Amino acid sequence: MKFRKKIIAGNWKMNKTLADAENLASAIKLDLADCREVDVVLCPPFTALKTVGEVIADTHIKLGAQNMHWETSGAFTGEISPAMLRDLFCRYVIIGHSERRSIFGETDAMINRKLRAALAANLTPILCVGEALQERDSGRAVDVVRQQLTADLDGLKDEAKSIVIAYEPVWAIGTGRTATPEQAQEMHAHIRGVISELAGEEAASAVRIQYGGSVKPSNAAEIFRQPDVDGGLIGGASLEARSFVEIVKASG
Ligand code: PGA
Repeated sequence: MKFRKKIIAGNWKMNKTLADAENLASAIKLDLADCREVDVVLCPPFTALKTVGEVIADTHIKLGAQNMHWETSGAFTGEISPAMLRDLFCRYVIIGHSERRSIFGETDAMINRKLRAALAANLTPILCVGEALQERDSGRAVDVVRQQLTADLDGLKDEAKSIVIAYEPVWAIGTGRTATPEQAQEMHAHIRGVISELAGEEAASAVRIQYGGSVKPSNAAEIFRQPDVDGGLIGGASLEARSFVEIVKASG
């Protein structure tokens, strides 16, 4: 099996004022500034990107955004472009988070455009996929995830290996209910299989697949130990330095 460096990203969502963001980034930096074994990414809200970027500038920690528009500039009130994120030294961008899909109506076609724009701007997309509870309960989880991947990655065969995928079962996000390590492994292996069909074996063995959904220090190690789990996308537990650092350490 190809070696895949683990990647842990903190998705702060719509949390943290500027002062709180600066404090959190500084506290995380104390422990993780020199972390090289794992890729560590912080995704604060847009308003805190510059400040957090400055705090982590001289470290191995990378900056990411939570969303972006696909156009470079223009009359798109309220939107942020890939070029603007590059300007703030972002390296990653979360695309297609389930909250963007369900609350803000993002479709797979929009997500496909965002992925193309992110890659063109040299940003590494973290593409989120995952099924709702009802879809799991009715035995459709693998099909839903296959459909999302197929539509989101349409025409991106050569680029697939440079995208990070986050499997986030919607029923596990912010609910305290985590997928079991077996459920996570099963879906991650399925995702790798779909990538193999879409983009070939080499891409499938290179692509990194994070698990997300109620990851905590107490369950992280067991999930990260699964062969097809290459790290995590952490929401609630990334809002506190100690729990985020413990999760990063559990992945090493
Ligand atoms: P959670 O969120 O860790 O709070 O469940 C994960 C996510 O939505 O990325």
